[in-house]
Order: sequence, then structure tokens, then C-alpha cells
Amino acid sequence: MCGIVGYVGRQQCADILVSALKKLEYRGYDSAGIAVHSNGKIKTVKAKGKIAEGLEAKLAKEGKPYGTCGIAHTRWATHGEPSDVNSHPIGNGRITIVHNGIIENYREIKEFLISKGYGFESETDTETVAKLLDYYYSGDPIDAIISALSDIEGAYALGIIFRDFPEKIYAVRKESPLIVGKGKGENFIASDMTAILEHTKEYYLLEQGEIAVLDGDSISFYNLHKGSIEKTICIADWDMDAAEKGGYEHFMLKEIHEQPSVIKTTINPRIKDGLPDLSECGITPEKLNSYKRIFVVACGTAMHAGVVGRYVIEKLARVPVSVEIASEFRYREPIVSEGDLVIVISQSGETADSLAAMRLAKQLGAETLAIVNVKGSSIAREADMLIYTHAGPEIAVASTKAYMVQIAVMYLLAFEMALAAGKIDETECRRLTSLLRETPEKIEKILENTEDAQYIAAQLLTADSLLYIGRGLDYALSMEGSLKLKELSYIHSESYAAGELKHGTISLITDNVPVIAVATQQNLFDKTISNIKEVKTRGAKVIIVCRESYVPDKDIADFKFGLPDDVEDLLMPMAAVVPLQLIAYYTSVLRGNDVDKPRNLAKSVTVE
Ligand code: G6P
Repeated sequence: MCGIVGYVGRQQCADILVSALKKLEYRGYDSAGIAVHSNGKIKTVKAKGKIAEGLEAKLAKEGKPYGTCGIAHTRWATHGEPSDVNSHPIGNGRITIVHNGIIENYREIKEFLISKGYGFESETDTETVAKLLDYYYSGDPIDAIISALSDIEGAYALGIIFRDFPEKIYAVRKESPLIVGKGKGENFIASDMTAILEHTKEYYLLEQGEIAVLDGDSISFYNLHKGSIEKTICIADWDMDAAEKGGYEHFMLKEIHEQPSVIKTTINPRIKDGLPDLSECGITPEKLNSYKRIFVVACGTAMHAGVVGRYVIEKLARVPVSVEIASEFRYREPIVSEGDLVIVISQSGETADSLAAMRLAKQLGAETLAIVNVKGSSIAREADMLIYTHAGPEIAVASTKAYMVQIAVMYLLAFEMALAAGKIDETECRRLTSLLRETPEKIEKILENTEDAQYIAAQLLTADSLLYIGRGLDYALSMEGSLKLKELSYIHSESYAAGELKHGTISLITDNVPVIAVATQQNLFDKTISNIKEVKTRGAKVIIVCRESYVPDKDIADFKFGLPDDVEDLLMPMAAVVPLQLIAYYTSVLRGNDVDKPRNLAKSVTVE
């Protein structure tokens, strides 16, 4: 989704802004622009398309605006198509803004402003905010911001510059994230830390309804009554390298390879004396034992991590778990009440539907537990209990390492819950925990064998569609495998419970609909093999992901991706997801797609 950056300091800011915008490209966007205080005017340059072909080309042609204070934006179109005129920054020469989020009552405000003589150029909701600020402005920016905000409904993060205050940036937020970075003789605003990591690690989290005023030397905060506020500074623990490709061709490949190390960083601090210990996250065995039902609410890949979690928690702790798509959960009057635990999983911690679902669960009396990767994000801040995954910045839009650590956390949680409920004893809990600790080594081994994934990817390039099938945990995993392929290769695919295939979907099988069968669960193995035969005899090309020692006959599979034999069934999703990620990655590469920024997708979906 949209990205915001602002710089005020002593350096020429155009290049700094453009380079920071490039760090936000991963969020997804379709136009970009900058606005700079330049010789008593606000100079804006913006263009549809990617930064390199659009904005940078225009800056090269028109010249970079000269100045040391400016704001910038990458826009992911919601109101109005991607176009130069709908791009941000948006303003009228006196006040210029960048905006993330959606102004829900923009039509009303627009009508009001038209009645006051204002004209509109763009189709955006953002332009109404810029003009409303202008309407209220009579020399004091904070007064104008406070008045405008009292009329606005919706979600926003705003970066604002006033022509009359050439060395200041104003910022405010509600729902949409925004941070204020503190440098030396220079300060920043940004949608997320990756944009400014190369300049500073110190930042403030702007809370709802707080206004930040920055110049090169100072940052002040005010509430909506104009009272000044003191805020605590935060230090980012992500470093620059984490947000660079580090020799890999794509962020996604780098992130796939980082999985062994991020599992360790995520789980090791939560294991004490060989047993899971989530007490630093506010989770105690007594609490875990008190829940009668668990809901996992999330979107996309994070929701798939919940599906794996459901199998594991139900199997070990014998507590009913339902996994819910956040955008459905929030509107279907869910039956949730006191005594229930609602787990919200989110890499970004800002997904609008997941956040709203969590708020609803709280209102209904449930306790909420967030499993989140981005520190200080909205979901992290509002949950009753919180487990941070330590995946570091995930830049590729298609999630890989974040999913891996989300499921690693679900395992820890399931183990602790099962022990607390007396469903497993301490010896078994230690055994499972130690197996979990061994998974990074197994994944390292799988990552040595990228050739097989490349070979398989080459077989899929011209497929009309694909089916991913499996049973039990293999089915849970198939969902993620299929989503990865769709996101990256743009080839249609579906995941299906292998046993359900013959009740309809098998009619889709042709020799150009390959089937990727995941068969790692030994108790279900024979049954899965029977289902594979059903598709094979109907002409499907079959790729099987299974233990190394299994050698499929030609009438079962055409290709095999072998996994280490010594991974316990329960933990197989952590191993088996790796080839599925690699297959999707290489299919995308071979088809010449934009791997890290697939079309139409956004990394952080902050609108419904
Ligand atoms: C977007 C991303 C997905 C992600 C989903 C949930 O759709 O493209 O990769 O899984 O949002 O994001 P979250 O940040 O809540 O995990």
C-alpha cells in the first residue's frame, strides 16, 4: 500500500526522498512523487508508474527541485486510477500533502468545499484533505490541522508542508502507520523504518491523534488540543543489511535462505531449560489452560500459518481451534465471548481487516494474542498479549520467512498449551521442543537442493492451471504452496484436500493441469498415494513432495522433491514449505515476472 517519506535537514533532499521511496517500493504502488520547499515555493514532481521509469525519468527531464525539506509518496490507487494527476503529493501551492489511508466522508467534504469556491483536479479523496487544510489555514498550521481533522472520518497518515513554513514538516495519523525518525541535524517521517534505516535507527511511534512538527534540529509533538506531549524514543533492532539483497538476485530468494536463522532468533529466546516459555509475552501455562476455544484470525499467508497452527494445537492440546479469514470474521457477527482466545497473526501488524477483527474480538470479551513481526505496529500495540516473530524486515511482497516463524511460534504455543493441559508430559514436550530446534538444520539441507525446484518450475511454465493436494498437515501446507504460486507466477492454482478431489474438482484434470502432491504425513501416506493415482490415471503430470527415501513408481509421479527422512510428521510443514516456496520463486523467475513486487499486490494492506 501507499508509502510516505519526509526529510528535513541540511542536505539536498530530492535524492534522499527518492532513495527512501525505493525502500518502500515493496509495499506495492503504481505512482510516485515528491514535493520540496524550493526558493519560497513548493515544487512538486510526480508520475504514474514505477519510480525508475516514471518519477526518476521526470526528475531527470525537469530537474530535481532544490531544497532541504520535502515530502514524498508511493501511491497504491484506491480512489481514482493510477495517473500523474492522482499521484501524491497533492496541494495547491500553499499547502501540499501526502496521504495513506482512506477518507470515508470525502464526498461530503468535497461538496462543502465546492460550495466555498474550491475546484478539484484529481479524483482522489486526498485532495479534499489538502483543500480542507487550506480552507482552515489562517497562519497557524497546527490550528488548521486540528480543525480539518475534526471534520475527517476514516484512516489516514498525513505528511504536510506549508509554503509559509519552509523548514518544517507536519505529520499526523489515525489508523494508518507513521513513524518519525530522529537523525543528527536531520529528521524524517516514514511509513515504516526500512525507508530511513540507512540514516537513523532512532524513531518515535506516532500515536492516534498526535501531531508531529519537525525541523532539522527538533521534533515536537502535540495533542489535538494543542498541548505539547513528551514521547519516548525507540531504537530499531533491524540493520541496514537486513533491508538489502546481500548478493541474492531477489529479496524473496534471500528471505527463503534466511529461514533457518530467523527460526533460531524467534524460538531460542522462548525456550528455557528445554521447554517453551512464553512468559515474557504475557502468556502463562495457567492462562493457556483457561481457554475453551481458540480462533485464529488473519489474512493471506498469515492465515495459512493459522491453519497449520490449528492442526498442531488441536492434535496436541485438544482445544478446538477455528481459523478465520479476518475480512469475513469481522462482518459475520462471530460467536466469540469471554473465555475465548483470539490469535491474530500478521507480519506487518497493520493489515486493516486483521486489526478490525482483533478490535471486535476484544469488544466481545475475548482475550487477544498477536503474533506480529513489525515492532510497535498497531496490532502489536493493541493486543492483550504479544509474541514478536523475529524475521527482520520482509521486503518481498510474497511472504516466506515471516510464514516460517509464524508457524514456529504456533508450534511453541501448541507445545506449551498441551503441557499446561496435561495432554503431553514434560518429557514429550522437551522432545518436541528439541525437534523444533533441529528444524533449521533440516531446512539448510533442503536449501542445498534448489536444482530440483528449478527443474520442477521449468515443467510448470505453460500450465493452464495447477492443483496442490494433500491431507491433514499436508493439506494445510498445500494452501500456502498454491497461494505462493498464484502470487508469483500468475498461473491459476487451487489447493484441495486430496480426499475431496473426486467429489468434483477432479473434472479439471487434463494433461496441462499439473498436480503438486504433498505427502509427508505417514498415517495418511497410503491414502494420499491412492488420491494421486486417481489424478495420474486421468493424465495429470504429478510432482510429489515427500520423504527422500520414498521412490515413486512412474504410475504415481513424474517428478519428486525429496525431504529429509528424519523430520517428524508434525514438524514437516516447516520443511515441506521450502520446496513449495522455491518452486513458486523459480516459476516466477522463468516467466520473467517481477518476483519481489508481483502485479496488483501490496505488502501491507492497510485498507479493507
Ligand atoms: C497482503 C500480502 C500477503 C500477506 C497478507 C497479510 O495480502 O501480500 O503476503 O500474507 O497481506 O499480511 P500481514 O502483514 O497481516 O501478515
